[in-house]
Amino acid sequence: MKKIKKIGVLTSGGDSPGMNACIRAVVRTGLYNGLKVYGIKSGYNGLIHDDFMPMHRDSVSHILHRGGTILKSARSMEFMEAEGRKKAYENLKKHGIDALVVIGGNGTFTGASVFMNEFDIPIMGAPGTIDNDLYGTDMTIGFDTALNTVMEAVDKIRDTATSHDRLFFIEVMGRDAGFIALRSGIAGGAAEILIPETHTYIDDLIETLENQQKANVHSGIIIVAEGDDAGGAFEVAAKVKEKYQHYDTRVTVLGHIQRGGSPSSFDRILASTMGYEAVIALLGGRKGEMIGIVNKDVVYIPFEKAIKQYKIVRGEMLKMAKILSS
Ligand code: F6P
Repeated sequence: MKKIKKIGVLTSGGDSPGMNACIRAVVRTGLYNGLKVYGIKSGYNGLIHDDFMPMHRDSVSHILHRGGTILKSARSMEFMEAEGRKKAYENLKKHGIDALVVIGGNGTFTGASVFMNEFDIPIMGAPGTIDNDLYGTDMTIGFDTALNTVMEAVDKIRDTATSHDRLFFIEVMGRDAGFIALRSGIAGGAAEILIPETHTYIDDLIETLENQQKANVHSGIIIVAEGDDAGGAFEVAAKVKEKYQHYDTRVTVLGHIQRGGSPSSFDRILASTMGYEAVIALLGGRKGEMIGIVNKDVVYIPFEKAIKQYKIVRGEMLKMAKILSS
């Protein structure tokens, strides 16, 4: 096994709060272990376009508490092509980089996995996405902060919902996964939570609302994951309104405020741990794996598994949410 002397770190895919804390951990753990560390800008695009910068201790000063990513992020189309990946490898060789830490989600690890199958370059991953949709880790970097952002927004909207006896449909992120919707719905006391993992029956939703009316509850919050099969919040609200005219409905799409902001203490600690562990794992000869934390233990999940296996939404939690808000 070739001794690792220089490593690169990049962030790719949707940014998430805590990515900077993770970059900081990778850089400082690398430097502590006598490595040279390079930051690669704009995800895999930086690999292809030779956008590398040497990282020093001070390069990562005062970033622990900042949202976004100082390295910038992108979803690289060029890296999906063999030609792009070849250029990326040539640039890595040119700079003498022996290994990589990639911070991102599904697309990031898919790219890393293909790259590693084609070229001899060890890669370790840290899961950075607000969606929490990666198999093999309890939480991804940024999920907790995004949840808190949504919860605060729901609390504020509830004030108006209650004051005006209104029904609010709040759309949260999650094209394919309902983790943000489910957890923020429970934390915010939503009357209903609509997620992509389960089929939405508008009639059932209306029944819930009618029952609430009978129980003298005239306002409420419905959380809709953007990828729900009944549509986004606007569509669901229109379907409800069509059948149930008396409701005074409003729609709020939270959008990208969920992706930004200063990371929570949980995310800072998670990101720091994962960045640190990724470098230690590379030095110990590991590759092709995502760092996960399960029940407080560090685990190593092969990229293939992290992206292909499905993280289950616990049906019991949906049931609980419904009982608690009824
Ligand atoms: O994967 C993170 C995520 O925020 C999803 O929840 C969302 O569907 C998507 O990214 C939005 O992507 P973009 O910022 O490219 O519009």
